[in-house]
Amino acid sequence: MAEHAEHPAYPVGLRLSGRRVVVVGGGQVAQRRLPALIAAGADIVLVSPSAKASVEAMAESGEIRWERRRYEEGDLAGAWYVLVASSDPVANATASAEAERHRVWCVRSDDAEAATAWTPATGRSEGLTVAVLTGRDPRRSAAVRDAIVEGLRDGTLAAPHHRTRTPGVALVGGGPGDPDLITVRGRRLLSEADVVIADRLGPRDLLDELPPHVEVIDAAKIPYGRAMAQEAINDALIEHAKAGKAVVRLKGGDPFVFGRGMEEVHALAAVGIPCVVVPGISSSISVPGAAGIPVTHRGVAHEFTVVSGHVAPDDARSLVDWAALARLRGTLVLLMAVDKIGAIAGALVAHGKSPDTPVALVQEGTTATQRRVDATLATVAEAVKTHDVRPPAVIVIGEVVALD
Ligand SMILES: C[S@@+](CC[C@H](N)C(=O)[O-])C[C@H]1O[C@@H](n2cnc3c(N)ncnc32)[C@H](O)[C@@H]1O
Repeated sequence: MAEHAEHPAYPVGLRLSGRRVVVVGGGQVAQRRLPALIAAGADIVLVSPSAKASVEAMAESGEIRWERRRYEEGDLAGAWYVLVASSDPVANATASAEAERHRVWCVRSDDAEAATAWTPATGRSEGLTVAVLTGRDPRRSAAVRDAIVEGLRDGTLAAPHHRTRTPGVALVGGGPGDPDLITVRGRRLLSEADVVIADRLGPRDLLDELPPHVEVIDAAKIPYGRAMAQEAINDALIEHAKAGKAVVRLKGGDPFVFGRGMEEVHALAAVGIPCVVVPGISSSISVPGAAGIPVTHRGVAHEFTVVSGHVAPDDARSLVDWAALARLRGTLVLLMAVDKIGAIAGALVAHGKSPDTPVALVQEGTTATQRRVDATLATVAEAVKTHDVRPPAVIVIGEVVALD
């Protein structure tokens, strides 16, 4: 074998769909390798007297067939590929020898030198498979794989000749503000954009990282003349997309949580411009979480309700049933409610909620300037003034606020 080991392995992509693969041993190695073999559509037979619980579950769900016994000579008949990974060295050696005789490629977890095939460290990103082989250093393979996959996902590893840029507009939820809290897909689309139209809220730090040729437009500063601001934003999206640019509409939190995302989807659909929506982490959950407040907690709150407080309860435009909300036992999360919190707290108390109900205001959550102010329904209006709480803030009302 020594002279073989001098040569690098020859990489190949096996198309195993419907083809018999035998796995000898149901331990940790099988547990790690089986999902990829199942994903490849292989016809998998596991030969092992025992198996890890998760491997057993794969057999129960019919993803693999399990022969609950020791390996026997002849088990590899008809196999295209073998994974030998039992804790019995004799069984491993015998199975390996049988594979060699039948010229079936055989991976061995216990003896890489005796194996006729090696499993690369693999990863996937946007339909692309990355496979890395370093020979005798699997940790290095995994590290190289991680670096490549991570780079492809976040766009720091550009593959310009092979990548088709997303045409049209991507409505990307940027998360609450911390640049690490955008999704992997959102970040990649941002790195591929020609034009980014961004809101005031969201991960503004990411805009600084964009290459100089990317046109960054502040949505708040789009001149809108007689048109409504939203119409002006829609027009800008359409104009740039029609010019063949890859446009990202970067929004705070999630595009569909008080983000007017659907209005933009409709406006683009009306003129036939393709649009993808990338969900984001909404401030309604993440900002309380960042301040140590879970919106639900076993035995305390079995529901949470997210409400816009941009109009006061007695405003004719309000669509919110404050009397019903006052009856709920769970958590109330208010967005855009700093200005109207006095009236809102008053309405909740008037409809029967205890004035002692704990309240927390979390300003600029997940950013370097995050701060939390605690109060009760009775004191919250005063607390906003004394502590000079300003938007953007998420207001949480309910017993979860008092959890330590
Ligand atoms: C127009 S809404 C957009 C919500 C967004 N689509 C989301 O899912 O988070 C804006 C409100 O979200 C809340 N908000 C967004 N980001 C925030 C942050 N980092 N800290 C506190 N509140 C935030 C504030 O209540 C703000 O007034």
